[in-house]
Amino acid sequence: MRSMWFIVLCLLLFVGCGTCCFVRYWQFHSMTELLSIPAVVVYGREILNISVAPDRVDSIFAVSCVLRSDNSTIGANITVEGVWPRKRCSVTHAVYSTGNDVIVGLKRLSDNTFEWDERNPLQSIAFEGFSQNLMELATTCGLQNWTSPDGVSDTTCPFCGHPANVSNPFQTVCLIDQLTNETCTDVPRPSITGVCTCDKTRRPSKDIEVTGGIGIVVIPSLVMVLMTVLLSSSMTW
Ligand SMILES: *[C@@H]1O[C@H](CO)[C@@H](O)[C@H](O)[C@H]1NC(C)=O
Ligand SMILES: *[C@@H]1O[C@H](CO)[C@@H](O)[C@H](O)[C@H]1NC(C)=O
Ligand SMILES: *[C@@H]1O[C@H](CO)[C@@H](O)[C@H](O)[C@H]1NC(C)=O
Ligand SMILES: *[C@@H]1O[C@H](CO)[C@@H](O)[C@H](O)[C@H]1NC(C)=O
Ligand SMILES: *[C@@H]1O[C@H](CO)[C@@H](O)[C@H](O)[C@H]1NC(C)=O
Ligand SMILES: *[C@@H]1O[C@H](CO)[C@@H](O)[C@H](O)[C@H]1NC(C)=O
Repeated sequence: MRSMWFIVLCLLLFVGCGTCCFVRYWQFHSMTELLSIPAVVVYGREILNISVAPDRVDSIFAVSCVLRSDNSTIGANITVEGVWPRKRCSVTHAVYSTGNDVIVGLKRLSDNTFEWDERNPLQSIAFEGFSQNLMELATTCGLQNWTSPDGVSDTTCPFCGHPANVSNPFQTVCLIDQLTNETCTDVPRPSITGVCTCDKTRRPSKDIEVTGGIGIVVIPSLVMVLMTVLLSSSMTW
C-alpha cells in the first residue's frame, strides 16, 4: 500500500516535471503558509467524482469541518470543479483522492462550487487529515474558528473523540480546547515566486523571465523520483 503511494507520487512528479514542465524561482512553502492564502479551508473527503465532459472531472466532496470560510455558507456536500485534468505542475491529486481525509484550500466559483486554490507549482493544496496536521492548524491564527458545514445539525466538527476518521485520533486531548485557548501562531502569507511554464497558452507573469534553461526544481525532483523508486523497490508489497 505504502509502496503504491510512493510509485504514484513518483509517477506524478515524473510526468509533472520530466517532460515539459519547467518551474523557475520555486520555493518550498509549509502547509500553514500555503493554507494562509485560500479564502476557504475545509476538512473532509471526496466521496465520488464525475466526468462532466470528456476533458473534465468534478469531485463531490463531503465537508466535515470548515476551518476558514468566506462570508457565504458552505454546505456539507460541495462540488470541486475540474480536479482532472490539471496543469502539469499540479500535484494536489497525489493527496486528494476518493475516501482520503484531507484538509484542502479552495476558491469559490459560485454558490456550492469551488476549485482547488493551488498557488505553488509542485506543491499540493490538499494535506493529509492527520492529527498532527489538524493540531498544527488548530494553533494557527486565522484557522482557529472551526465550524460545521451549513445545515448540519449534529456536530461533525471539531474532533472530540468522534467522528473524524483521523488515522491517529486524539485520545486524551479534545481538539476544541486547543482551538480557542491556545495562543495562536501568526503565519504571514507567503509571496509565491515559482512559475510553471507547462501550459503554453498561459503566459507567466511578465516581470519574470522564463525563457531558456531548466528550472531549479527539475533536478531536485528527478533526484526525488530516483529516491522514491529506490525506496519503494526496497519495500515489500
Ligand atoms: C475518480 O474516482 C475513482 C474511484 O474512486 C478513482 O479511481 C479515480 O482515480 C478518480 N478520478 C479522478 C480524476 O479523480
Ligand atoms: C467578510 O465580511 C467582512 C465585513 O463585511 C469583511 O471585512 C471581510 O473582508 C469579509 N471576508 C471575506 C473573506 O470576504
Ligand atoms: C452529495 O452529492 C452527490 C452527487 O450530487 C449525491 O449523490 C449525494 O447524495 C449527496 N449527498 C448528500 C449527503 O447530500
Ligand atoms: C466563526 O465562524 C462563524 C461562522 O463562519 C462566525 O459566525 C463567527 O463570528 C466566527 N467567530 C469568530 C470568533 O471569528
Ligand atoms: C471510519 O473508517 C472506518 C474504516 O476505515 C469506517 O468503517 C467508518 O465508517 C469510518 N467512520 C466515519 C465516521 O467515517
Ligand atoms: C478554555 O479555558 C477555559 C478556562 O480555563 C475553560 O473554561 C474552557 O472550557 C476552555 N475551552 C474553551 C473552548 O474555551
